[in-house]
Amino acid sequence: MNQRYRKTVIAGNWKMNKTPAEARALIEELKASVSRVKWCEIVLCVPFVDIPAALKATKGFRASIGAQNMHYEKSGAYTGEISAQMLAELGVKYVIIGHSERRQYFAETDVTVNKKIHAALDAGLRPIVCVGESLQQREQGVTLEFIRQQVKIALGGVEPSAVKRIIIAYEPIWAIGTGKTATADQAEEVCGWIRDCIRELYGARIARAVTIQYGGSMNAGNAAELLSKLDVDGGLIGGASLKAPDFAAIINAANQ
Ligand code: 13P
Repeated sequence: MNQRYRKTVIAGNWKMNKTPAEARALIEELKASVSRVKWCEIVLCVPFVDIPAALKATKGFRASIGAQNMHYEKSGAYTGEISAQMLAELGVKYVIIGHSERRQYFAETDVTVNKKIHAALDAGLRPIVCVGESLQQREQGVTLEFIRQQVKIALGGVEPSAVKRIIIAYEPIWAIGTGKTATADQAEEVCGWIRDCIRELYGARIARAVTIQYGGSMNAGNAAELLSKLDVDGGLIGGASLKAPDFAAIINAANQ
């Protein structure tokens, strides 16, 4: 973290978990477990149907609500899809874009990710853009070039004035839901590299203001070490965000 230049953001990605009633209960428990939120921003990325309940339950608590996906068109014949405008009107502030599960199971590509980023920014949402290599890519030594390509295509056509509203989440696919976390040094290497890529595209002043998260088996036990790295500005947390004490411990680690 480097809180002089950029905000630390701890975001929970609930994935396809929790009904509206369960969402309410989890948020109540979380409110009771978080001591004080001073330095970091908390975001809860909940299933679409949980959004109204989550917004209501977080009133008076310093947490924003995010969605986990959206369509890039404003409206039209896209059965089953949700637009950025629909989310913004509800009061949603963030949206995860290009999570590896969306890329793997729902055929999202760097090009659709780019379109979604533009649509989210146009609607006033802050995109949390996920990038990350597979185990095979890591073992073949192409991690950095692969990440560079993902970042460059994702940011294609984004105005310099809008880049600071984007959060990039580095999520190595081999660390997601596996209990296998990247070491703090591995996370720092790639998060620093992402910042280098942004610097190359937009210059140093913008690059140092962008929040870059780590995600992949982040938990109460490893959060402090990961967040101690200068280029790791927060976390995108799956499993551990579903348990209030664990998520609270991560938030508290970011508040040191
Ligand atoms: P886990 O924290 O369960 O590994 O999930 C990470 C993730 O995919 C967050 O988006």
